[in-house]
Amino acid sequence: MKKTALLLLGLLSAGAATAAENQVRYPQGFRSWYHVKSMVIMPGHPLANPFGGIHHVYANYKALQGLKTGRYPKGAVFVFDLWDYAEDNHALVEKQRKLIGVMEHDDQRFAATGGWGFEGFGGGKPNKRLVTDGGKGCFECHQAREDHRYVFSELRD
Ligand code: HEC
Repeated sequence: MKKTALLLLGLLSAGAATAAENQVRYPQGFRSWYHVKSMVIMPGHPLANPFGGIHHVYANYKALQGLKTGRYPKGAVFVFDLWDYAEDNHALVEKQRKLIGVMEHDDQRFAATGGWGFEGFGGGKPNKRLVTDGGKGCFECHQAREDHRYVFSELRD
């Protein structure tokens, strides 16, 4: 009896460890990473729901190397930092952070989704994980960029 309980506990904790291991890490400090590009998505655009707003794309050092070489090392991370905007005196100004979208590269942990782990964090808050399907929905769309390792953004000056 005791043995079974212990075994069960062991299995449960192994399961928990695997689940945590397969989670995309919160991109601590991404605001000081490399700024790749920005874009405004307005109502009517196919991505308006849920990606309407002003977004900025950031790459950590490894993701920047990937943009340059076309090969992404383990630990490459992109952040899609999305803000609500308001029109103010003929200008579009940032209001509130809606969410951040994150892609973390690891061929082993994220083998099912092209080597990228996908996650969203509501309001940019580490404890508000948004993705519930293991990133399948995100990956389906990013698959259109298979020839660019599933990354849409490109380097510019
Ligand atoms: C319907 C298509 C679509 C879906 C679904 C989608 N994305 Fe994207 N994603 C894009 C496009 C298009 C861009 C490029 C935006 C730009 O050019 O500024 C992008 C860019 C990104 C980037 C910046 C790196 C890159 O590829 O340029 C991240 C990070 C990202 N998405 C994360 C996610 C996450 C996480 C999800 C799921 C919660 C998701 N995406 C779902 C279309 C999609």
